[in-house]
Amino acid sequence: MGASNTKPLFVAGNWKMHLLPSEGLNLTRELKAACLERDMKGVRVVLLPPFPHIPAMAMLSHEGFEVGAQDCSERLYPGAYTGEVSAPMLADCGAKWVIVGHSERREHHQEYESTLERKLREAVKAGLGVIYCCGESGPTRNCGDEAAKQFVMKQLEVVKVIWHEMDSLHGNILVAYEPIWAIGTGKVPTPEQAQDMCAAIDGWFQDALGVKEYAIPVLYGGSCKGDNAAQFFSQRNVCGGLIGGASLKRDDFLQVVDAARGVKGA
Ligand code: PGA
Repeated sequence: MGASNTKPLFVAGNWKMHLLPSEGLNLTRELKAACLERDMKGVRVVLLPPFPHIPAMAMLSHEGFEVGAQDCSERLYPGAYTGEVSAPMLADCGAKWVIVGHSERREHHQEYESTLERKLREAVKAGLGVIYCCGESGPTRNCGDEAAKQFVMKQLEVVKVIWHEMDSLHGNILVAYEPIWAIGTGKVPTPEQAQDMCAAIDGWFQDALGVKEYAIPVLYGGSCKGDNAAQFFSQRNVCGGLIGGASLKRDDFLQVVDAARGVKGA
């Protein structure tokens, strides 16, 4: 335990394909009001709704209460790519962040490293901050901690490539460690297991990029909610959470926000 009070702390809500835009706007208004009433003590909230929600929600955003997207096109803007949404469009709508490489995109849309590399490049060029997701499957975890770490570190290689290529990635990237077996299942790693992996990720970046601890804050995600968030957030190298199911209701999400505030001593 023993969280450093200097570490950044993010609470990001990944709404996935939930909530109509009108419902999302109401939820955003409620969350904004609740956050403005609270001493947020350096806790940053990021809401990641489906694309159609973004313009209206972004009008309600402010420093420390930001809006982002769950994905962006790998294609160069502009172009004849029916159905694609480009990173510059998201930035123009007021999005500050974009998720790249969520396991559901990797699995359902066959997004492999070459695609993710292009998405990272487009996001950074557009000035978006990136929330890059990584995490091992259940079978890989069953092969042991070392196998899980090796798998995850390989997923980080693409970040290293872009880091060296594009200075504007520096200070504009979070990594979310989300073990696939924990997403939407109610199963979670122990706080020590989460810490072990998040410390390994942070250490890998320190070695690979020559940066200091927390240069790339590492969030935990996967069935993280009000009653377990504090245990994760108080781990030294866990800099907040990427929250799915528990981000869809005001009180559930605020419990996670309050857990983060508690860790910051608010
Ligand atoms: P969950 O989802 O909190 O519902 O497990 C997290 C995520 O997939 O980002």
